[in-house]
Amino acid sequence: MRGVKFGFVPTTILAMVDAAIGGKNGIDVGLYKNLVGTIRQPEFLLLDYAFLQSLPDSEWTNGFAEIIKHACIKDRSLFELLEDKSITFFKSSTENIDALINRNVELKCDVVVNDEYETGERKLLNFGHTLGHAVENIYDLPHGNAVSIGMVAACTISEKINNFNSTDKDRVISLLKKYHLPVDLKFDRDKVWEVLLMDKKKSGDIMNFILLNAIGDGIVRPIPLNQLEDLIIYV
Ligand SMILES: NC(=O)c1ccc[n+]([C@@H]2O[C@H](COP(=O)([O-])OP(=O)(O)OC[C@H]3O[C@@H](n4cnc5c(N)ncnc54)[C@H](O)[C@@H]3O)[C@@H](O)[C@H]2O)c1
Ligand SMILES: [Zn+2]
Repeated sequence: MRGVKFGFVPTTILAMVDAAIGGKNGIDVGLYKNLVGTIRQPEFLLLDYAFLQSLPDSEWTNGFAEIIKHACIKDRSLFELLEDKSITFFKSSTENIDALINRNVELKCDVVVNDEYETGERKLLNFGHTLGHAVENIYDLPHGNAVSIGMVAACTISEKINNFNSTDKDRVISLLKKYHLPVDLKFDRDKVWEVLLMDKKKSGDIMNFILLNAIGDGIVRPIPLNQLEDLIIYV
């Protein structure tokens, strides 16, 4: 009786492209984030786009944060497609949203299949999530909004220490704005630093931070904590 079989029926964009995939799935319970979860692959995923008819605009926006994340770390042509289209376009027909969601499901599945236990490439999926989780917790932001702010911060750090082009950084910021995501937050740096120190991506005196080489090309970069503390001033 070790475990029962299960499947997922995600009802938000965010869950369809991200939270329901990967075999490491948590849901919030009351005040507690990701309190109940699974660590096995589901038997099935059932994506019924009829759910999206009632999904509020704010939740479409949250879902697009993870879609933009996928484009930034792995898929430059997806990034260009997102630049070219808009939420209105993807909402306008089942075919349009189906193509986009499938592309994102495939992208996440590929990463997970190649690295089920998160030893390498899967870490890329944490792009925007280090600072993102910290501000999400402290300021009680919706997940996608917090990840958006985290991605802008990661772009700034990428520009400072990874030769990420400033024009590309501006493109990421413009794309986030286009999908109605926040790109700026006046946060308390001391509080954020305190929370960052508890991040699971910290190992000894190093934080494994996800940066961009270019749009569509993410990397995991170990950053010494003392250097990171200085860099936080810029974000
Ligand atoms: N890898 C992971 O495990 C992972 C990643 C990201 C998020 N999560 C977790 O996944 C869970 C799901 O998050 P989520 O963003 O999908 O949102 P959610 O389930 O928190 O839903 C967001 C809001 O939209 C409403 N809603 C959901 N579907 C709707 C629909 N079809 N029509 C109308 N309203 C609808 C909900 O009632 C809620 O108010 C959260 O607990 C989150 O913490 C897990
Ligand atoms: Zn996320």
